[in-house]
Amino acid sequence: MRLIFIGPPGVGKGTQAKQICDQFGILHLSTGDILREEISQNSLIGQAAKRFIDKGELVPDKLLLDMMSIRLNQKDCKNGYCLDGFPRTIPQAEGLELILQNLQQSIDAVISIDADEKELIQRLVLRGQNSGRTDDTSDVVKQRLDVYRKQTAPLIEFYSKRNLLHSIDGLGEISEITQRILNSLS
Ligand code: C5P
Ligand code: MG
Repeated sequence: MRLIFIGPPGVGKGTQAKQICDQFGILHLSTGDILREEISQNSLIGQAAKRFIDKGELVPDKLLLDMMSIRLNQKDCKNGYCLDGFPRTIPQAEGLELILQNLQQSIDAVISIDADEKELIQRLVLRGQNSGRTDDTSDVVKQRLDVYRKQTAPLIEFYSKRNLLHSIDGLGEISEITQRILNSLS
């Protein structure tokens, strides 16, 4: 099983992707976590990514595609995965299609989780008090929501045209939302 999770920051994408990966015994690949790990190691990728992440902007498509091409070619991806936070733009989605073609793989479903803006801002500001993430401050949160609407939301139509889209309401208890996703996949 190969899944993509898309949704605005704070919607619970990561939380839900983890639950679903556990259920299906597949790998959870969070590009945000991978980038933060690169930053903590002060690698070249980390150095290049940090200035974009701290401003709430997207890291350039080429960097993400090169990084994910290498990652998806690793052996542990053979049995399936959830992509959490990638692709985030149309060029990333097109690049991913090429990567998967070369691997003779395809995506089974795209889970799009959404919730209203006020709820998201509240959740992110709360998360910022505990997460220690440099991009969970209110200015950067607003910028990230803006980037989502402009650059990532067009993926909803992109995947809907490919008949892969599962739209999930992100309001409610964590377990309720997990159940909605599982129902949509069965
Ligand atoms: O997915 P997550 O919210 O953890 O990502 C945090 C930040 O990492 C994003 O706001 C963005 O700056 C960067 N990112 C990116 N492109 C991706 C995934 C994450 O630029 N595909
Ligand atoms: Mg995340």
